[in-house]
Amino acid sequence: MQALVVYYSMYGHVHQMAQAIAEGVQEVGGARVQMRRVPETLPDDVLKKMGALEAQKAFSDVPICTVEELTSADAILFGTPTRFGNMCGQMRQFLDATGQLWAKGALVGKVGSVFVCSATQHGGQESTILSFHTTLLHHGMIVVGLPYAFQEQMRIDEITGGSPYGSSTIAGGKGERMPSENELAGARFQGKHVAQIATKLSKP
Ligand SMILES: Cc1cc2nc3c(=O)[nH]c(=O)nc-3n(C[C@H](O)[C@H](O)[C@H](O)COP(=O)(O)O)c2cc1C
Repeated sequence: MQALVVYYSMYGHVHQMAQAIAEGVQEVGGARVQMRRVPETLPDDVLKKMGALEAQKAFSDVPICTVEELTSADAILFGTPTRFGNMCGQMRQFLDATGQLWAKGALVGKVGSVFVCSATQHGGQESTILSFHTTLLHHGMIVVGLPYAFQEQMRIDEITGGSPYGSSTIAGGKGERMPSENELAGARFQGKHVAQIATKLSKP
């Protein structure tokens, strides 16, 4: 079972979640995982003004994904920051380049799952994940979320991301908050859960 974690991160929050997702995948025997970033679409001077260039150095070694690579995976876990309640433009542009794969039905039957980050608690995590699912369904993917079997998504003793739609983290208005232990645990659970399902599906 081969899993691909494909994400965009501007300041590192989604990147940390992606690492936890990959750790979860690796908990499943026989599962292999690769991490990929989607191509950047913003010029360096814009990224510099947004204060992102320095943060992105920490994960610049993660290879850039090609659309063809999606075909080699049994499961694809997509990570995106929320932008106005939707996925970021970088991810949208990457997905909009998958028309050839759609035409061939190349992703039909693969497991797809989404995790996110937003600045605020109610800033659109669920709308980002659910609207992302539309694209996965057009590709014929089997959509998997974060079941309540990960009970810690119900915590109210601390602020936490995570919903049945997928794991998530809250960055704060200035990006000052990094993923909490609970949010990282949710991401690990999602990675493992997706890998277990994809392993069952990939058995002859
Ligand atoms: C153009 C733009 C739009 C954004 N829209 C939202 C939003 O709708 N809701 C929200 O809570 N945060 C919003 N954010 C904050 C990002 O979601 C946040 O910076 C991001 O999730 C941090 O993750 P990263 O470090 O992996 O990029 C927005 C940020 C930008 C730059």
